[in-house]
Amino acid sequence: MISRRGILAAAAMSMLAAAATPSCGAGHVSLSAAAGRSSRFFGTAVRFSQLASDPAYADLIVRECSSLTPELELKWAAVEPSRGALSLTALDDIVSFARMHGKKVYGHTLLWDKSVPDWAVDSLLAGDWTYLQLYISSVVPRLSGVVDYWDVVNEPIETGQRLDGLRENVFLKGFGPDYIRRALETARTFQPTAKLLINEYGLEYDFEVEEHRRYHLLRLLERLKAASVPLDGVGLQSHLDLRKGHVSSGRIARFLDDIAQLGLEIVITELDVHEADFIADPNIRDQAVADEVRRYLDIVLQQKAVVGVSTWGLSDRYSWLDLSAEDLASYQNAWTDGTGPGLNRGLPFDADLRPKKMYRAMLEALSAG
Ligand code: G3I
Repeated sequence: MISRRGILAAAAMSMLAAAATPSCGAGHVSLSAAAGRSSRFFGTAVRFSQLASDPAYADLIVRECSSLTPELELKWAAVEPSRGALSLTALDDIVSFARMHGKKVYGHTLLWDKSVPDWAVDSLLAGDWTYLQLYISSVVPRLSGVVDYWDVVNEPIETGQRLDGLRENVFLKGFGPDYIRRALETARTFQPTAKLLINEYGLEYDFEVEEHRRYHLLRLLERLKAASVPLDGVGLQSHLDLRKGHVSSGRIARFLDDIAQLGLEIVITELDVHEADFIADPNIRDQAVADEVRRYLDIVLQQKAVVGVSTWGLSDRYSWLDLSAEDLASYQNAWTDGTGPGLNRGLPFDADLRPKKMYRAMLEALSAG
């Protein structure tokens, strides 16, 4: 059921957004139109609070995206902050906004150890599936028809903990490795048609630790497929990071091939770039970000099993990659003119919603893909 407040807010936003459309030249090609040329979707993570308070940003999202990922609103801790008290208004508001603008919602995420409400931890550890099932049954059918893809399990892999590479999270402690099958089967019960995915990070670079993560994820996928578990795809978060150097094609391309060979789809779910140098000239910074994104997209879009790309936010105005205290400490004398450190510039549009070199790199890569 869609909230009345949500409908009104979305309608108001739509009107405001139309009035605040940033100028873009005739013949503008949006990222979703470019992705659509190879039948892919393009989307981004959104928070309803940002859409509601920032009509120009809402308009940019409507213009560029065909898919919206709730950054917070679907997570268990947000949906059920205290037991039995469902808080679905913000989620409903995103859904009504998406429906009003003809967009899909990307379902993120059902099982993530970092979004378990505090009150649920003990029952999970005791092996009680009841509350998890109630949460899944509350949100999944609610989004029927507007969601094509669900991140059912988020970040199940971690190296250095167990021989099977599974993260020792609250689900594993409560239910053993079988929690992944159970989660996918529970999601399938409430959503017979949408694609069900496992979403994972730290898979993009050639380092040994990322190779181990790829290895363990592949083995997990093989086990699940062999057991006929309802798994349709894999989300690669793709938080690129210039501090790690550059992506290169060999290993990641082979990894994508291996996933595709299992008959699975692949979605790039959370693309953005953490910068290595925050004090260089913005043009140089933007070029470095764009080059890395272009390298990455040129590799992954060669793979036909990649069905869509989402960024984790569209504008640096709202990037989750705020400069950390550690970043700031390493540059403490750099801004003698008092201008401050600025933001991470790892998304396609700058904080004034102007397209950056990353936008153009994405447009070209998606158009060529
Ligand atoms: O809004 C409240 C604010 O009122 C309060 O004062 C403050 C105190 O901590 O918290 C604020 O909420 C925070 C929220 O982000 C909004 O800023 C939460 O604590 C914080 O946990 C939350 O972090 C989100 C995180 O997932 C956990 O849900 C990030 O925004 C979001 O970008 C991040 O997204 C994850 C993906 O789901 C999975 N992949 C990695 C990605 C980045 O970490």
